[in-house]
Amino acid sequence: MTATASTSAPTATGLRGIREYKNFINGEWVACSGGKVFENRNPANGDDLIGTFQDSNADDLNAAVDAADKAFESWRLLPAPKRAEFLYRVGQILQRDKEKIAREMTREMGKVFEETKGDVQEAIDMAFLAAGEGRRLFGVTTPSELPNKFNMAVRMPLGVAGLITPWNFPMAIPAWKGMAALICGNTVVIKPASLTPLSVVMLAEALEEAGLPKGVWNVVTGGGREVGEPLLKHEKVKVISFTGSTDVGRHINIACAPSFKRVHLEMGGKNIIMVMDDADVDLAVDGALWGAFGTAGQRCTAASRIVVQKGVYDQFVEKLAGRAKKLRVGNGLDPNVDMGPNVSASQLETVESYVRIGSDEGARVVAGGKALRDGDFGKGYFHQPTVFADVKPSMRIAQEEIFGPVTAVMKCDTLDEAIIVGNSVRYGLSSSIYTRDVNKAFTAMRDMYTGIFYVNAPTIGAEVHLPFGGVKETGNGHREAGVAGIDVFSEWKSIYVDYSGSLQRAQIDTEEI
Ligand code: UN1
Repeated sequence: MTATASTSAPTATGLRGIREYKNFINGEWVACSGGKVFENRNPANGDDLIGTFQDSNADDLNAAVDAADKAFESWRLLPAPKRAEFLYRVGQILQRDKEKIAREMTREMGKVFEETKGDVQEAIDMAFLAAGEGRRLFGVTTPSELPNKFNMAVRMPLGVAGLITPWNFPMAIPAWKGMAALICGNTVVIKPASLTPLSVVMLAEALEEAGLPKGVWNVVTGGGREVGEPLLKHEKVKVISFTGSTDVGRHINIACAPSFKRVHLEMGGKNIIMVMDDADVDLAVDGALWGAFGTAGQRCTAASRIVVQKGVYDQFVEKLAGRAKKLRVGNGLDPNVDMGPNVSASQLETVESYVRIGSDEGARVVAGGKALRDGDFGKGYFHQPTVFADVKPSMRIAQEEIFGPVTAVMKCDTLDEAIIVGNSVRYGLSSSIYTRDVNKAFTAMRDMYTGIFYVNAPTIGAEVHLPFGGVKETGNGHREAGVAGIDVFSEWKSIYVDYSGSLQRAQIDTEEI
């Protein structure tokens, strides 16, 4: 902890009094059929047991899918503006409970309270955005090639949507996916990451309080093999939306292929900030610090690479290292803390192993570089904010997703070189440029192969009403949020209405003009 910080989250004293959280199936909170539970502990303090959650199996998942499938029959027929009323209420409930929810989210996930409030805010924004969409869900009308004939295409729901959501934005991402799914008329079965089930339980509580009909939203907690796999294979599930690693995304894509499910994948990132000689260097340092160490670097959009033009390289490295060293690490509920822990022991091990790899590869640690284990730090998974300088683009720390508080700074001669370096990874989520030259900004905007691009801002901070997602091994061609999220959860039905009273044959030559 920092000098002033403490492990201030409420600490459990033993299993007695610890809440057991249930699955939410068909509008009821129910125990799993196998009678097993798993623990959820605070990553800032392992003594703090948040609760136990259902260690579910395929029977529980099947029950949830059956409930969702049954609920679909009436939910799809409720007019979208009426569906929207539930979502407005959810947004209001989340707004009312924002601080309370954020506090619990910091306790289960670790990121600082300001950021968990931001996570809940994204869910609120998405609820209101999707609710507004209930009065749009625009389709297409277009002229017919034949007289007295009317053509249109309308959006139809798909059916049961299976959502598999990550731990880093444990309420925002379920809301991005879930609100879009619901407004289109789908019903939902969600399997949250086992490190952050409480956030998804809290979202379900809000949906329940909003009066959502039974079976429209179902939560099944448990392992990937036990709950995730049967969800992928279930014939009644028509669309899977997943956010997580590229390896798991590839597996999901393959598992869903035989049943031709629609699959929406949001996967890894190795995002880059490009800092040009003409940039406002202090602004770029501010951006790099927030981009690299916000959420302790555990964002798919994290600025895990920075390429700096040679004229400002030394100055930038010195300033960034100085600022990184000053960041205060500790329990995210302490208002004096800037950066929380890694989410788990294995995440911390991954970070430590990459720091070793980077050093062995010849990169220079200019800030941080160590896990924090002294005193109360030892109860959590803390690591110093770490900056590597003199990184070469081919090094593993510049190529592989670390998902922790580590950033790799490289030097370049020109904008062209920065763009080549930027595009030299297998991912393509987010990129950014700091420059005062509009020509450079537009050139980079055009040439970066990423789904998101920022000018004079870091790689993080996407807003819910724009499409979110990436190219290359980051995504599979879909986007979530914005109107693009509606595309994932609806499909087109083209409708032709012939009111001529006679047989009109399309594409058949006739003598009439
Ligand atoms: C993620 O890391 O998976 O743009 C999502 C951002 C956030 C969302 C990140 N609004 O960084």
